Amino acid sequence: MRPRSTSPTRRPAIVAALCAAVLTVTGLSAAAPPSDPPHAVAALPYQDAGLPVQDRVADLLARMTLDDKLGQMTQVEKDALLPQSDLAAYRIGSVLSGGDSTVSPNNAQTWADTYDSLQRTALGTPLAIPMIYGIDAVHGHNAVRGATIFPHNIALGATRDPALAQRVGRAVAEEVAGTGIDWSFAPCLCVARNDRWGRTYESFGETPELPTSMATFVTGMQGQTLGGDPASVLATAKHYIGDGGTTGGVDQGNSEVSEAELRAVHLPPFKEAVRRGVGSVMLSYSSFNGVRSHASKYLVTDVLKGELGFTGFVVSDWAAVDQLDGQTGFTGAEIATSVNAGVDMVMVPHDYRKFLTLLRGEVGAGRIPLPRVDDANRRILTKKFQLGLFERPLTNRSLTPAVGSAEHRALARETVRASQVLLKNDGGMLPLGKSAKLFVAGKSADDIGNQSGGWTLGWQGRSGPVTEGTTVLQGIRATAADPSRVTYDRYGNGIDGSYTAAVAVVGETPYAEMHGDRPGGMGLDQEDLQTLARLKASGVPVVVVLVAGRPLDIAAQLPDWKALMAAWLPGSEGRGVADVLFGDHAPTGRLPMSWMRSASQQPINDGDGKSPLFPYGFGLTFTSNPVPDPDPGPDPDPTPAGKVCTAALRVVNSWPGGHQAEVTVRNSGTAPLTGWTVDWDLGGATISSLWKGVLTVAGGRATVRNTASNGAVAVGATTSFGFTGGGTAGAPAPRCTAG
Ligand code: GLC
Repeated sequence: MRPRSTSPTRRPAIVAALCAAVLTVTGLSAAAPPSDPPHAVAALPYQDAGLPVQDRVADLLARMTLDDKLGQMTQVEKDALLPQSDLAAYRIGSVLSGGDSTVSPNNAQTWADTYDSLQRTALGTPLAIPMIYGIDAVHGHNAVRGATIFPHNIALGATRDPALAQRVGRAVAEEVAGTGIDWSFAPCLCVARNDRWGRTYESFGETPELPTSMATFVTGMQGQTLGGDPASVLATAKHYIGDGGTTGGVDQGNSEVSEAELRAVHLPPFKEAVRRGVGSVMLSYSSFNGVRSHASKYLVTDVLKGELGFTGFVVSDWAAVDQLDGQTGFTGAEIATSVNAGVDMVMVPHDYRKFLTLLRGEVGAGRIPLPRVDDANRRILTKKFQLGLFERPLTNRSLTPAVGSAEHRALARETVRASQVLLKNDGGMLPLGKSAKLFVAGKSADDIGNQSGGWTLGWQGRSGPVTEGTTVLQGIRATAADPSRVTYDRYGNGIDGSYTAAVAVVGETPYAEMHGDRPGGMGLDQEDLQTLARLKASGVPVVVVLVAGRPLDIAAQLPDWKALMAAWLPGSEGRGVADVLFGDHAPTGRLPMSWMRSASQQPINDGDGKSPLFPYGFGLTFTSNPVPDPDPGPDPDPTPAGKVCTAALRVVNSWPGGHQAEVTVRNSGTAPLTGWTVDWDLGGATISSLWKGVLTVAGGRATVRNTASNGAVAVGATTSFGFTGGGTAGAPAPRCTAG
């Protein structure tokens, strides 16, 4: 049904139309004709970029009919707009591409052309209010083939580098803006408390502090000032609130926690995003103690808009309004409930005609007050003005080459490196030698789809060559001194004892949202287990690289592995994994989630008193790299005769309840050192693994003897060993005894 204006404010629209008619006759137009740049002299106040935004909003609002206003509150899936002219006919204010929405051919140019075509349609309305286009660019412009695919948020959390997250946000914004799109439904600021949740990988971490620190992503996307530069893209803090805290980690489930816990754990990241000026907030499907976020006036209006002072606009999640009464399809009552709770824009996303009819009915019946409609419009229009959409409605084509650029891919590779978490490294197995004879196996070794995960060229993502980039295997071959010494078989078939090491790249295949929930086991799948068994049977040392969106239940297999590195979901630049495997970059990543001993421990989080396999914040680095000599202090006797050694202990990494240390042994005598022992008081600490030495512990003291791998130590030279331990290292004074 075509919209009909029932608003008493039609007169301004007539005036605007007459103005438009007059201006058109004189060769001007009330709204900048889509193909031309905006006029130097604005016809109407709201079109005058020199006026304060709030004045422009007030002038425009006064000219809008009720249909104009209701249209601004409506967001429609691109593929549901049939015909496209309905965008103008129903005054629709926003279009989105959901997870499976795409263009053909899928490239940046086609996305930009599609955006511009839709925008021109929107600008053809009497008031020429530009539409705003939203998409899930959650780890790169991941709907666009050829775009840079960055590691998912769980990996960014492992970097502990907010500045890096901001740089990534900026790069993603440049690629999004390069296709004309103005708004990304990112970052997810969820705090994943139960790793069974299918969206764990969309979380920066399990504590409120880590996602809060990563809200820098908002500044990266929007810039210091929204619309302050051509690449500025509206960010979205999502999903408000408690999506990661549901019972059992059930997606769209129920967060059964106290309000004190909700505020302490799940609110801080949103508080920080609001402080950073995030322009939109998306509500969560989940409920807080049985009340759906989309129906909670307390959480949305009182807390988010009132207490936190959020002045942007609130958007519902995809068809979330439909869920409120538990029945299929949306009703006027559901729409009134969510709009009155504080939803400003409804992601319908398909049946916009029915939605607008029902919405108009609720307003007409007084169940949605007009002031609520006006407040929603003020919030939405303010962001459109601030973004510069009225002045720069079409794609800035100078940004299009940014999509998939070498610069962005280099940043993605840097992010991959920084996110690798080394969890085990017995005997200094890593870094691999570049001349080593390697056997690479595993379903995710040569699969860019697996290494990218969900939200990649489709909602669920998929295995296979889904986009351009480098796989982990390609990275290994590119880094090895002689790629012909790198053999690959997905299943491990053909391995024999002649290899220096086997590298098994295993883990999860892509998924998104509820499809990733794991209410049962959280271990490796049968294919991976069979591949690992083949590698183990060969007797070759096994290095495991885990490509997964969360910690997995691997405690039973871990003893068979010489080394384990969590690679998370690295995205298109798999070579960053090889950079660390071969030691071009030492691992610096630290766990953003506690790593369970078994799935039965879920939920398991930092400080909850449970004993994880690896604690939150855990991460090893290499000690076989030449370590700058710590100053062992003055030699006891600068000219001692015979064999003398000194030892110095340095903590290279620490985390709550644990640490990693490096002990440097120096030959301070006048003859080569062929044997030594170092002992020290543990001071209550424990040692869980040690490399390049033979350990004995007695009476609270540790004693380490050299191994053949230390070799003979020339006069004045050094060697070293390393270990990981529980507790704190304290201030041990290691004693070295030659011989
Ligand atoms: C989805 C997700 C949300 C996403 C939206 C649009 O269901 O919950 O994160 O932004 O729909 O694709």
